Amino acid sequence: MKKIFSFVFVIFTLLFGCCSATVYKVGDSDGWTAKDHLYYHWTEDKEIHVGDSLIFEYDHNLNDVTQVSGGLEYEFCDSSFPKAVYNTGHDVVTFTEPGSYYFITSNHTQCTSGQRLGVFVVHDPSSPSPLPLPSKIIPSRHVYKVGDSKSWGVYDSDFYYNWSKEKQFNVGDGLLFEYNNEVNGVYEISGDLEFLNCDPTSPIAVHKTGHDIIKLTKPGIHYFISSEPGHCGAGLKLQVVVGTTLNVPKLSPLERLTRWLDILRHH
Ligand SMILES: *[C@@H]1O[C@H](CO)[C@@H](O)[C@H](O)[C@H]1NC(C)=O
Ligand SMILES: *[C@@H]1O[C@H](CO)[C@@H](O)[C@H](O)[C@H]1NC(C)=O
Repeated sequence: MKKIFSFVFVIFTLLFGCCSATVYKVGDSDGWTAKDHLYYHWTEDKEIHVGDSLIFEYDHNLNDVTQVSGGLEYEFCDSSFPKAVYNTGHDVVTFTEPGSYYFITSNHTQCTSGQRLGVFVVHDPSSPSPLPLPSKIIPSRHVYKVGDSKSWGVYDSDFYYNWSKEKQFNVGDGLLFEYNNEVNGVYEISGDLEFLNCDPTSPIAVHKTGHDIIKLTKPGIHYFISSEPGHCGAGLKLQVVVGTTLNVPKLSPLERLTRWLDILRHH
């Protein structure tokens, strides 16, 4: 196996004349383990290039690294059709092509509690780029109108609970709140307890235009209540759980284009 990697590396070096390959230890000191959002934050500040490698470290009696082919398998922790399975406990994966890569553990319980990693590999901008950066992997963003055909108002007490329960919200999606801003408003609050008690005293954000688009920028639970405690008590409150289909790509389409143009300009 080592031989193959060195071979690939030599070929890569010959082709691209580049020696700046980086080796990343997945999860840093935590290694490869089940921890909520650990890998989301781990990839946040990294730009992984073709030629770079990941090292997965873990106890091979308890775990493995299963590479799956797409975002859906990643999302649902479905390891039934793996692209590759690594189980030495010290696995090195080197990227030879740009694109999205998904790694999960085949232990479903641990995968759903966070042991999965999505990375987006790009060409090294300092080496000649034979291909335009892939653009088809941009996840689609969705703006949900809260309540669909109904505006932000008081209905049955479980109306918003049901509305949000059926949906899968992802980082990058938006919520659109529509209402009469003379009688209502939207407060984003930070916790379960405030949500239960309809406590508007320390909001994270206050929206009052009557046509508010709120972008969901972080994974986790987000809470919205009416600015009117009476309305909130009657059910005008919304809780959404935001997941991460793709941690990647971190570049916006515009940044991607700019970067690509920069690369062209230098040649
Ligand atoms: C999956 O992980 C959980 C939690 O660590 C463990 O209890 C369980 O036995 C594992 N399942 C398998 C099939 O290894
Ligand atoms: C919410 O869902 C529950 C269970 O499916 C249902 O009984 C209830 O009528 C729903 N409420 C509304 C307002 O749609």
